[in-house]
Amino acid sequence: MTRFILRSPLRHPLQTFLVNSTILLSQPAKYIYNNALYTTTSAFDRAPPLPTSLNQPQINNSYHHRRKLHTTTSTFKTHLRKMSSENSPPPTETTAGTTGKWQPANYMKFGNERTRPVYDLISQVLPHIPSSNSPLTIYDLGCGPGNSTQALLSFFPTAHITGLDSSREMISAAQNSSWPASSNVEFAEGDISTFTPPPATDLVFSNAVFHWLRSSERLPALVKILQGLKSGAVLAFQVPDNYDEPSHRLMRDIATLPSTPWTPFFQNTRIGDISDSSRPDLDPIEAIPDIYDAFLSGGAASISVWRTEYQHALAGPGSIVEWVRTTGLRPFLDRTGDEEGVRRQFLEAYEEAVGREYRELKDGRVLLRYPRLFCVVVKK
Ligand SMILES: C[S@@+](CC[C@H](N)C(=O)[O-])C[C@H]1O[C@@H](n2cnc3c(N)ncnc32)[C@H](O)[C@@H]1O
Repeated sequence: MTRFILRSPLRHPLQTFLVNSTILLSQPAKYIYNNALYTTTSAFDRAPPLPTSLNQPQINNSYHHRRKLHTTTSTFKTHLRKMSSENSPPPTETTAGTTGKWQPANYMKFGNERTRPVYDLISQVLPHIPSSNSPLTIYDLGCGPGNSTQALLSFFPTAHITGLDSSREMISAAQNSSWPASSNVEFAEGDISTFTPPPATDLVFSNAVFHWLRSSERLPALVKILQGLKSGAVLAFQVPDNYDEPSHRLMRDIATLPSTPWTPFFQNTRIGDISDSSRPDLDPIEAIPDIYDAFLSGGAASISVWRTEYQHALAGPGSIVEWVRTTGLRPFLDRTGDEEGVRRQFLEAYEEAVGREYRELKDGRVLLRYPRLFCVVVKK
């Protein structure tokens, strides 16, 4: 059996921009951006994806590539400025929305941090995109409020990009964002679990979405997408891989505490038991060798998979709660229905536990460790 493991030397000038605007560390696999320390590891490749010298990134030399990089750096800076940041004052109220719907504005409170992996993923897609005059056809699965779509557009300004999302609120937020008149971007409601790429598709991209599928659905859906792609087309996705992180373990621990006001709301579900699909906790991400094998059998010409452990310096435990309450904590909060008092008590207990687990730094902040799994697959 032949195995293809991509070792791309590419480092994107965006990273030069990021690195130049921050503190350099001596370790090539570590860097600081926006008050967050990042460490990068690669599952199959001993050498980390970051270059030996962060100051002198190795750039893909094709003209097509350089042109793209040049035109996107300023767009990226503007994009960063536009994004709301966790540096804004932390919100004071601690109750979650009661609707169970996605809340685009709250999601984007940490827009910089959440969009960071989009750029990291795109940087590893670029070497696989052929130089051609014809506009690319791109799908952004689970486009959310359009932040990942905007990043894609900045790299592929002539592409026809379709953002799909199952949340009406997110699609509406994406549609209401400002898009350049010249751009060819559209949004539609859709379910990624049944998505099949049209034949002309060049890139299926998905950032922070497939972890919302149950494990039994996830790899089959991804492999089906790969199988539907034409030769040379790319499937690229990133999923949070934080099932065992304190932030997520504590959700399960607090929800399963006995004799609490919220206990009745969770008693019909087996939290932490992955055979119970009705439970609020998301499934752990599959083992990397299983992911690799699934794509190999699904018709991959090359598979690049890696894990990056972001370290976000947030204002305090309340910010960690604020971060997860619009994402992984939401299914837990939805369980408490409209019982505002119960939800608040649950959140307070969770925040207290988070405060015990994440120690305060010298500047009063806490580091939210956030591992994410990335995969770029090229169709045979
Ligand atoms: C964490 S957000 C990611 C948004 C954006 N891609 C980003 O990079 O920040 C996850 C998005 O996935 C969408 N989503 C979750 N399950 C989905 C499904 N089965 N089909 C389509 N979209 C889904 C949610 O509605 C939400 O907008």
